[in-house]
Amino acid sequence: MLILNKVAGIFFKSSKRKVDGFLRSFNFHPGTPFLHKIVLGIETSCDDTAAAVVDDTGNVLGEAIHSQTEVHLKTGGIIPPVAQQLHKENIQRIVQEALYTSGISPSELSAIATTIKPGLALSLGVGLSFSLQLVDQLKKPFIPIHHMEAHALTIRLTNKVEFPFLVLLVSGGHCLLAVVRGVSDFLLLGKSLDIAPGDMLDKVARRLSLIKHPECSTMSGGKAIEYLAKQGNRFHFDINPPMQHAKNCNFSFSGLQHVVDKIIMQKEKEEGIEKGQILSSAADIAAAVQHTTACHIAKRTHRAILFCKQRGLLSQSNAVLVVSGGVASNLYIRRALEIVTNATQCTLLCPPPRLCTDNGIMIAW
Ligand code: KG4
Ligand code: ZN
Repeated sequence: MLILNKVAGIFFKSSKRKVDGFLRSFNFHPGTPFLHKIVLGIETSCDDTAAAVVDDTGNVLGEAIHSQTEVHLKTGGIIPPVAQQLHKENIQRIVQEALYTSGISPSELSAIATTIKPGLALSLGVGLSFSLQLVDQLKKPFIPIHHMEAHALTIRLTNKVEFPFLVLLVSGGHCLLAVVRGVSDFLLLGKSLDIAPGDMLDKVARRLSLIKHPECSTMSGGKAIEYLAKQGNRFHFDINPPMQHAKNCNFSFSGLQHVVDKIIMQKEKEEGIEKGQILSSAADIAAAVQHTTACHIAKRTHRAILFCKQRGLLSQSNAVLVVSGGVASNLYIRRALEIVTNATQCTLLCPPPRLCTDNGIMIAW
């Protein structure tokens, strides 16, 4: 706690008055007994300010989220001080909303759980500072949460999944394969050696200027690529999946991004258009990059499943693959993973899309 206080120190003073006023806005009714433990979860690791109130049986009592996607789309990516400022502007309202909808007053909480890593330091600091103020004033226990562990365990909120299971986390900031052996017991099998797949898709979407596309302007890069890919023909471009000969379960996406950059440059020349205008072949490029991404993710996951089965790390007959993170909402990538799980007699499970992306529920849970 001492270390956490130190990390949050710079944000601490400024938010103290805010938290005092925030707590006064609730009607406390101590004395109402609750059968279940109730946790407030707070998430500010990247560009979503999120909070939720969840009980120990997995009932979601209240939830609120503020997404910064629209702002970051306009600036062409996440600028950490901008993300920090937006978290500061929204955290009190979001926590208040989650608590109000839950009908739980702060004094009735059993604990406050907050993402402390990994993520953008400036963003994490806002949630941590706010939480430590609450913890201090309410005299409640504080539960530090690892963002990736929260993503990995979310499936146990919606499905009855026993340990161990294999998890694939693919988002804008993460890409990893791990065996989940228990709540805090993870065996890392592989991770991205450079950027995450969502980051790569965001960069490609930006390079294709999809924000100017009338149907994609408010979508995240990955979602825009998925949307456009449906109208394209992936066979118009032949892109090799990365790391085809690497005998491990790691990933790489920056090489793929550079290959696509070159294709876009070439097409701009051919079509005689300037950088910043939308190519007539944008949908075909989107389809090809989505296909190559799906192939790469599916092949690495296939290796991981075979390795786990061979080493007895997963059940031979009841192995489960859980896929989560923003990129897991991509249906084309899910279908590629389905082919892998069907071929290896595994069960594929994905949390519903709203629980795949960053949220407060997974932190509280
Ligand atoms: O999990 P998330 O909300 O935030 C973190 O990065 O932790 O994931 C956001 C990422 C973004 O890069 C976004 O472009 C990508 O997930 N994404 C998608 C789709 N929806 C969101 N990527 C591919 N297909 C989608 N449908
Ligand atoms: Zn995440």
